[in-house]
Amino acid sequence: MFKNDFPYFQNSKVVYLDNGATTQKPKSVIDSQVDYYTQYCANTHRSNFGHANKATQEFEKVRVILKEFINASKNEEIIFTKGVTESINFIASSFATHFKTVIISSLEHHSNITPWHMQGRSLGNGLEVVNFKENLDFDFEHFEELLKANPNSFVSITHISNAFGKIHDIKTITKIAHDYGAIVMIDGAQSLAHLKVDVKELDVDFFAISGHKTFAPTGVGAIYVKEKFLKDLKAYQTGGATINDVDFNHSTLLDSPYKFEAGTQNIAGIIGFGKALEYINHIHYKNIQSYEHNVYNYLDEELKKLPDIIFYNDISDSIGSRSFNFKGIVHDDIGILIDKMNIAVRVGHHCAQPIMKKLGIKGTIRVSTAFYNDFVDVDKLIEALTKALKILKD
Ligand SMILES: Cc1ncc(COP(=O)(O)O)c(C=O)c1O
Repeated sequence: MFKNDFPYFQNSKVVYLDNGATTQKPKSVIDSQVDYYTQYCANTHRSNFGHANKATQEFEKVRVILKEFINASKNEEIIFTKGVTESINFIASSFATHFKTVIISSLEHHSNITPWHMQGRSLGNGLEVVNFKENLDFDFEHFEELLKANPNSFVSITHISNAFGKIHDIKTITKIAHDYGAIVMIDGAQSLAHLKVDVKELDVDFFAISGHKTFAPTGVGAIYVKEKFLKDLKAYQTGGATINDVDFNHSTLLDSPYKFEAGTQNIAGIIGFGKALEYINHIHYKNIQSYEHNVYNYLDEELKKLPDIIFYNDISDSIGSRSFNFKGIVHDDIGILIDKMNIAVRVGHHCAQPIMKKLGIKGTIRVSTAFYNDFVDVDKLIEALTKALKILKD
C-alpha cells in the first residue's frame, strides 16, 4: 500500500527484498534532488547570495529535523557523514585515545570491526567480542565479564544485525556498560528504517546513522555525539568550512558540528535525507512497525514450509533481515536463479564474515524487508524459491 509513494515500484517489475543493502526512495526525496540541482544549486556555509543562503538554510534544517527525530538535545550533537562506515571510522580515529579496549558483539558488520583493527595497530587497543548464545542471543554474562576485566572500555555494538535481523537490547546493554564506566556507541545502520530511536531513552553516547538505508539518497549519514563527549573529539579531517583562523603554521577550528564537516558536503543528499525523515514522520513508526511486522511474520511462516530450509535464529527480537540456507544447496546458485525471476535478495556473507565463520558457513540467502513490502512480494519470493529448488534438486 505504500509502494505508490516510491517511483521505483512503478518503473520496475523487480520484487525488491534487499532493503538491508539499501532502501528505495520516496518521490519527495527524489523531487528534492531535482529541486536543489535545478532551483538553488549553490554551496553551503560560504557565499552570501540568495541561493547560497537558501542551500545553507535547507541543509541546516535537516540537522534540526534529525535532532528531533532521534530526540537529541542540541544541533551540535548531530554531525553529518557519508554514512555509518564513515561515522565509525571517524570515532575510531578521533576518540580511540580515550579508552583501552573496544567491546563489540559477534554479529557486527565489517564496518564495526575493521576500523578497530586499524586503531588496534596504532594505539594498542584490544578488541573483545561478546559471545552469542542459542538463537544468536547476546550473551549478557560474557559481556559483564569483559567489562569487569577491561576497565576503560568502549562498547560498539550494532542495534539490528544486517545479516540476521537480530535486535540487540540496547537499553540494557547501555545501562550495564555505563555501570562499569564504559562509553557506548551504537551502529544504527539498520535501525531507523524499522524502529523509533530515542537517543535519550537508550542513553547512548554515540549513535551512527545511515541515510541510504533510511529511504534517503546514498552517500549521507550522521553520527550523534552526546554533548559531553564533543570537547574530547578531535577533528578527523580539516579544510574548507572547518576553520576559524589560519596562517601558514597554525589553524584554529570552529566549534561542533562544523569543525567535523570538512569540505563541501553532499548537500542534495542531506536535503533528501531530511525529506526521508519527514516522510517517515508523515506515515508514522506505529504504521511502519505494525505493517512490516505482519509481512515479516508471514515471510517466516512461508519460508518454514520450504523443504530442507536451515535458519540460524528464530524471529523473536528480530526485524528486517531473514537469513537462511537449504541443505545441500549453494546459496549463490539460489541467488542467480531467482534473479532471473526478478527477485532481488542478497546472497553471501553480508559483510559479516566473522559470524558466518563462527556458524561454519560461507554465507546465507538474506531476504530483507521494508515497510513497503507486502504479502504478494512474499508469495512471489516463495514461488521463485520453489522453482529454483526444483531446478537445483532435479
Ligand atoms: C549493520 C551495518 N553497519 C554498517 C553498515 C555500513 O553502512 P553505510 O553503508 O551507511 O556505510 C551497514 C551496511 O550494510 C550495516 O548493515
